[in-house]
Amino acid sequence: MIDVLEDVKKQAEAELGSVDDEVSLQNLKAKFVGRKGVITEILKGMKDIPDSDRPRMGKLINETKTFVEDLIDNRLNEIRDEKKRRSLYEEKIDVTLPGRGMPVGARHPITQVMEEVTAIFERMGFEVAEGPEVETDYYNFEALNIPKNHPARDMQDTFYVSDEIVLRTHTSPVQIRVMEKRKPPVKVIAPGKVYRCDSDISHTPMFHQIEGLLVDEGVTFGDLKGVLTEFVRLVFGEGVGVRFRPSFFPFTEPSAEVDIACMICGGKGCRVCKNTGWLEILGCGMVDPEVFRSVGYDPDKYSGFAFGMGIERITMLKFGINDIRLFFENDIRFLRQFT
Ligand code: FA5
Ligand code: MG
Repeated sequence: MIDVLEDVKKQAEAELGSVDDEVSLQNLKAKFVGRKGVITEILKGMKDIPDSDRPRMGKLINETKTFVEDLIDNRLNEIRDEKKRRSLYEEKIDVTLPGRGMPVGARHPITQVMEEVTAIFERMGFEVAEGPEVETDYYNFEALNIPKNHPARDMQDTFYVSDEIVLRTHTSPVQIRVMEKRKPPVKVIAPGKVYRCDSDISHTPMFHQIEGLLVDEGVTFGDLKGVLTEFVRLVFGEGVGVRFRPSFFPFTEPSAEVDIACMICGGKGCRVCKNTGWLEILGCGMVDPEVFRSVGYDPDKYSGFAFGMGIERITMLKFGINDIRLFFENDIRFLRQFT
């Protein structure tokens, strides 16, 4: 038995010498110390050994097993070290290669213009207010002097959530929410998303508006014109064509819409401006006394103006974009031009 164990050690040493990869090494391990390996077989022979010799033989067998296992483990470490050394040598990093540039991200053009417009009004002393996109019929229509079944409701194709709940069709309900909470003077803007069942090259079912509201004693239409004319000058630069066109809104009187000379065709007429040479960017007017009454302001004491502008339209004019739907297609080639 002792000779057999010595042979096992020698054999293991000899075979290990010619092994130089991990797989062969694992096979060798199985062959010697595995469940069906040489040493396990020897252990099975213990039953033929006299009782008196058994402890000594058992100890010898275990020592042999440990010896072989250590041999294998050492070889394994050698193989791994060698592999690492080789890869460090072979896989060189060329530090002289030019770096791969990180792509530069940018904010969406609509976001950029929203922020620009907001900043202009903040500099004029307006504060930012917010309201919910899912709005009650009361705030979206009723309090703005648009009763149920009033024909003016057809001006805005509404998405109804239920009889009393709508997706807000404009940012004007924020006017009411602000006036209910504060006493004049009030000077706020309300940027946000609005929804209408509407779609073509200058209309989308979701778009952005910025509402403006200024209420104080002695506010006139002249103030409204001054603020909006200055705003147009700041956004589009000096000398751009602007016109105030008489219009109607149930919540303002008198009312106007502001058009900008179409910059996509230079005013000659194109499909964006529907061949008129002008593109409407906002609605505005002097707050109707009925609206003041619905929030408990005294219309004899206070007057004010309000406006609501379409951010997509302003962005189209600013950058010469001829189809509003481009904003929502997420085409990276389009968006990349606004970095
Ligand atoms: C209104 O929404 C009024 N609430 C504006 C207002 C506020 C008037 C305060 C008086 C006082 P109008 O429906 O015209 O008005 O829309 C305002 C602007 O939103 C339009 O001038 C246009 O620039 C933009 N707009 C309207 N519908 C769409 C649409 N479907 N897609 C993109 N922009 C639109
Ligand atoms: Mg309009």
